[in-house]
Amino acid sequence: MQKILDIISKKMEQAFVAAGYDGAYGKVTVSNRPDLCEYQCNGALAAAKQYKCAPIQIANAVVSQLDQGDFSMCEAVMPGFINLKLSDRFLCDYLEGMRTAEDFGVDKIGAGLTAVVDYGGANVAKPLHIGHLRPAIIGETLKRLHKYLGYDTIGDVHLGDWGLQMGLIIAELQERQPELVYFDPDYTGEYPKESPFTLLELEEIYPTASAKKTDPAFAEKAHVATFELQQGRRGYRAIWEHIMGISLPDLRRIYGILDVQFEKWLGESDADPYIPAMVQDLKDRGIAVQSEGAWVIPVAEETDKKEVPPCILVKSDGSAIYATTDLATMVQRMQDWAPDKMLYVTDKRQNLHFEQIFRAAKKSGIVKETTVLEHVGHGTMNGADGKPFKTRDGGVLRLEQLIRDMTDFVRAKVVENKIVSEGEVEETTAKIALAALKYGDLSNQPTKDYNFDLERFAAFEGNTGPYILYTIVRVKSILAKYGAWEHLPMGLPANVYAKELMLAITKLGPTLETACRTLSPNLICAYIYELAGCVNKFYHETRILGEEDEALKAGYISLIGLAKNVLETCIHILGFSAPEKM
Ligand code: ARG
Repeated sequence: MQKILDIISKKMEQAFVAAGYDGAYGKVTVSNRPDLCEYQCNGALAAAKQYKCAPIQIANAVVSQLDQGDFSMCEAVMPGFINLKLSDRFLCDYLEGMRTAEDFGVDKIGAGLTAVVDYGGANVAKPLHIGHLRPAIIGETLKRLHKYLGYDTIGDVHLGDWGLQMGLIIAELQERQPELVYFDPDYTGEYPKESPFTLLELEEIYPTASAKKTDPAFAEKAHVATFELQQGRRGYRAIWEHIMGISLPDLRRIYGILDVQFEKWLGESDADPYIPAMVQDLKDRGIAVQSEGAWVIPVAEETDKKEVPPCILVKSDGSAIYATTDLATMVQRMQDWAPDKMLYVTDKRQNLHFEQIFRAAKKSGIVKETTVLEHVGHGTMNGADGKPFKTRDGGVLRLEQLIRDMTDFVRAKVVENKIVSEGEVEETTAKIALAALKYGDLSNQPTKDYNFDLERFAAFEGNTGPYILYTIVRVKSILAKYGAWEHLPMGLPANVYAKELMLAITKLGPTLETACRTLSPNLICAYIYELAGCVNKFYHETRILGEEDEALKAGYISLIGLAKNVLETCIHILGFSAPEKM
C-alpha cells in the first residue's frame, strides 16, 4: 500500500502544479507541531525564493487547489506553512485498506532479495553467558524484520568451533588422560562413540585450560593441537566431534528458551574446506602479500582517520584465524546463497575486525561491489547499578541463570496476582519473562550500553514488554466478549482518541521500513509503546462494549481488533508473544 505521506505529497505536488508552481515543492512531512496539525508542507517557503513573492501567497494559492475531501483541515499560516489534518473519511478508508490487505499492505521492500543474518556467535564448549544475550535477540529481530519486509532470510549462528579453545581443551585433556586412544598417533581403528567427558566436565575443562594460557609450554601445546586439528589429525578430530556432540544440544536448548531459531547451525569449522583454494587464489592474484612470515591483505584507505591494520589471512605458523574463517564463510555464502546483504551482529568491540574483513572481501571480489555488508555492533549490558554485570563471586553470569532469575521474578508475580490457574502458570510466566527480557534489551538503541534492571523490565506498567502484552491481552478479552469480529469494517473515528489511534496504526509500514534501513529494532519498540498508549487511552475514554449503537460499536471493535493485530505482528518481529491472560 502507498504510504500516507506519499499519497498526500502527491496530492500536494499536483496542487502546486495546478497553482502554477513547481510540483517538487509539494513534499509533505509529519508535523513537528502535533498540537496544531498532523502533517505539514513547507514548500511554499522554498518556492518563494524562486518565484520572488511572499510565501503565504503561494501557500494560499496551493491550498485552494487541494481536494477538501481529503482533509479536515488544510490551512496556509504565516509565514507560509501549509498545515494539514486528514479527514475522517480519508483515514477510515486508509485503515480499511490496511485491514483488508495482506500484512496490512506493508511495502515488501526486500522482495527478490536475500539477507544472511549472522548472529548468536556462541562458542562451542563454553556455556553461553550474559554477553550472548544481545547478539541473539537483536539478530533474531533483525532477521524476522527482514523476513516480514519480503527478504529471503537465512539466520546462521556461526559457531566458534575451530579456534584456540579447541586446542586448549585437547591439550588439557591430554595432560589429564594421556593414555586415551585419541592421543596415540599410530592408532588406526575406530574411536569410541562414548565421549571421554560429560557436559559438566567440559564446562570445567575449558576454563581450567584457558587459565593456563599464560604458561608458555602449555600455550604452545594448545597452539600445536589447534593447528593439527585444523590439519585433520584423526584423533583430535574425534575429540572435536565429542565436544560438538555434547555442546550443541545444550546451546540449542538455551537458544530455544529464548525463541531464537537459526536456519543454519554452521560454524567456523564449516568454512575450513573453503580456505585452501581461497588463500591460494588471493596469493596468486597478489591480493594477499607476505608480511613477517604471515600472509595479509592490506586494507588501509587514504581517507582513514585511524590506522586500519592489514587483515591477517594466514598466521606465520600457517594456521587460520578469525578473519580467515570469516572470509572463507563469505565464499561459502556467496556460492550457496548469493545474498544481497549480510548482517553481522556482535559486540561493537569487534568493529575493527569487521571493517577489515569487509574491505578485504570487497577488494578481493569475494563479495560483489553491491553486496551490502553491515556490522551491527551492540553495546554492553551492565548491571542495574550501571557497573559490569558480575556474579556475587565476581564471575561471569551464565545466560541461563539470567533467564532463570527473570523467570522466577515473573513467576512470583503471576502466582501472587492469581493471574492464571495453576496448570497455566509456567506457560504464562515464560511468555511474560521473555517479553520483559527482550523488550528491555530491544527498546535500547543497539549501539548503546544499557543497565539490566529486572524489576523495571518486568513491570506491568511503563515502557516495558509486559505492558505491551497487557494491552494485547486486554483487547483480546474485549474481542472475546464481543464475539466474531474479524469481518467488521472500519468505522469513522468517533472521537479524538479513536483518531489518534488510527493515525498511530497508519505508521506501521513507515516504522518497519525505517527500522530495517537503519537496523534499529528500538524504533519498533517505541512505535508499539505509542500504539499501546493510544489503545489504552481510547479504551479508557470510550464505552466500547456498552455502546448501544451497534454500527458504532462494530467500528470500535474493528479498530481495536486491527490495533491488536498490528501489536501482535510487531511483537512477533521482536521475538515474543502474548499469553491468553495476564
Ligand atoms: N564467536 C564469536 C565471538 O564469540 C562471534 C562470531 C560472530 N560472527 C562472525 N561471523 N564473526 O566473538
